[in-house]
Formats: sequence, structure tokens, C-alpha cells
Amino acid sequence: MNHPPDPTDVLRLRLLLVLGLGSAHFSCGWGTCDEPEYTATVSLDVLADTADSGTSPTDCPTDPNASAELLNQGDAPYCEMMDITFLEQEGSDCTYRYTCFTCCGYGRPYLDERGAPVEADAVPAEGWAEPSRPPVELTSEQRATVGAFWRDMARAEHSSVAGFHRFALDLLAHGAPLELLSRAQRAGAQEVRHAIDAFTLASAYLGEPLGPGRLGIGPHAVVARSLAELAAWTARDGAIGETLAAFLAARALAEATEPTVRAVLETVVRDETEHAELAWATLRWAIEVGGDEVRTAVAAVFAGLGDPTPHSLPWSPELAAHGLPSPEQERADARLCIARVIRPVADALLANEVREATANQRFVSTHADPSLRG
Ligand SMILES: [Fe+2]
Ligand SMILES: [Fe+2]
Repeated sequence: MNHPPDPTDVLRLRLLLVLGLGSAHFSCGWGTCDEPEYTATVSLDVLADTADSGTSPTDCPTDPNASAELLNQGDAPYCEMMDITFLEQEGSDCTYRYTCFTCCGYGRPYLDERGAPVEADAVPAEGWAEPSRPPVELTSEQRATVGAFWRDMARAEHSSVAGFHRFALDLLAHGAPLELLSRAQRAGAQEVRHAIDAFTLASAYLGEPLGPGRLGIGPHAVVARSLAELAAWTARDGAIGETLAAFLAARALAEATEPTVRAVLETVVRDETEHAELAWATLRWAIEVGGDEVRTAVAAVFAGLGDPTPHSLPWSPELAAHGLPSPEQERADARLCIARVIRPVADALLANEVREATANQRFVSTHADPSLRG
């Protein structure tokens, strides 16, 4: 009897082919999916600016939300913190241990200097959502939940438009091949389509036309200062974020029955898989050109990849038909993708299988400014 192919095998093979490698390279070389732990010390003084009284509290917070707020005021790179444990207080210094989820969910949002996602609010607006019929078989609470899910998706997809424009600037600044630049431009246009589709679904479920407000990207775009930084960001945003996006959308599509949702997810699966391939192709080029320095920067990103954070919306089984998995299913699928797709492909990429520039001159740019390389 023929069994359908395992979706993780299919996606892993596609990505290995991008790297010029065959399927023989599958391994769970990085073993477990345990997330690395971090320890950080932050002074309570950082809270003085935001406190109403202008003075900072004297005791370190111990509940998760307040602890995360304090940690995120410090100098450490942005991180979605989980499992925060208060360790000790010395004077005004608070020390915590935590794990970090280092990537995004669906799409490739625009990230600021600290790596925090920048998204516009969803506001009542004409011009983004296309006319569509409202779904009838859900309760008003279920409709609100599904609407919130697609509204959050729409904001992320809209941010991804800026994410790809920023990525194109990185490619231009570092003399990337025309093929990568062209694919980045095409991906930005596809993200516009995803945003329109997600705003259309959100508007149908929530019963009013929605669109994005202003995107707070500030006066200057964030551009990678070195090829190593370009590669590290591509590993984080694309090789991890877009591979997860493609896989999670495919899993949602497998459960979805609402025709308009299925049509949207089919487009998203096809496009996000292309975006994942673009990210891995970019890493291949960057390592071929930049060598060990780039390889080391990329390896650090994959080594820091933590455990996924699922959505926290109230869920019931009827919602899977509308593209919304249970939080448990979403986390399990993301872990599966990390263990059986992202880590094995990253292992193959980093295991010296991808040869240096001398072996493949077509990726060597003669226009890159050497001063931009770190
Ligand atoms: Fe997208
Ligand atoms: Fe994408």
C-alpha cells in the first residue's frame, strides 16, 4: 500500500535541493529540541523613566509579565522570553534565567534595530479587504476568535512587505546576485497579496472592513552592516521564520474546509515555500562569498533557536475548518518542523558541504563594497 509522503520529508528535500544537496543528508545532528537557557542581570534603575513617580521600585519583580518587562528594558537583544525564573537580587540588580524563542511565526515581519517586530494596527479602512461573504455556521464568539486570528495574520503579512523591502536593501548593499534580488522583489509583492487576503478574511469574520494603519518603521531603514549580519538576519527571518510559515500553513490547510480560507492558505503555502527557498539560497551564497565568518554567524542563530510560542486564542475543534489550529497542535507542528526540517537542513548547510566562492564563481559579486563586509 502506498502511503502519502511525510510533509516534513518533502519540505526538507526541497530545501536541500536549494543547497545543491540530496536527501542523503538527513540527520538530527543537533539532537534534542531543548531550548538554550540565558541568564541576565538588569538594574531596577531602568524602570525609573517609566514609573509615574519617577523612582524605581526596590524589589525585583518575580511574576513572569513584570520580569519580562524589566528584562526587555535592558540592553539585551529583543527576545520573546519564556520560562523566566528569578534567581537573585543584589542591591538594585535583578538576575533572571529564561529561555528565548528567536523566531517569528508566519511570515517575515519588519524588525527594528533590536530585532523586535514592527506591525501596524488593524483599523477600520476601505481599500484593503475585498468583498466576501461572511461565514454563517459559527457562533459570534467563534467568529470573533477566527477574525482575531486572521487580523493578527494580516498585520504580520503587512509587516512582511516592509521586511522584504528591507531585505532587498541588504542584498543591494552587499552586492548580491541579480537572481536573489529579483526573487526578493517578487516576494515583497506576494506579501502584499497575503496581506490583502488576510485582511479580507479578518473583515469577513469581524463584520467590518479592516486595513493597516501606519507602520512605525521610523526615519531610517535598518540595513545589515556586514555580510555576516545579513546572513544571520536571513537565517532568523527567512530560513527559520519562512520555513516555519510554509510548514504551519500547510498543516492548517490540511485541516481547513472553508473554501475561502483554503484558497488563501493554498497561495500562502506556495509562496512561503518559495520564500523559504530564497532564504536558504541566500545563506548558501553568503557562505560561499564570506566563508567561515559568515558560517559562524549563521551557526549562532540556529544554535539559539528556541521553543515555539503558539497562539493564545480560545480554541474549539470547529475552528480548524477556518484555518485556526489548536495551540497544542501549532506548537507540536512547529517543533516537528524545527526538528525534521530546519535543523537537518541547517546541519547540511553548515557542514562544509557548501563550498567556498572559488568553487562557484557565479555567486561572486564584483560590485560589493569590501568595507561593508564584517
Ligand atoms: Fe506571507
Ligand atoms: Fe513570506
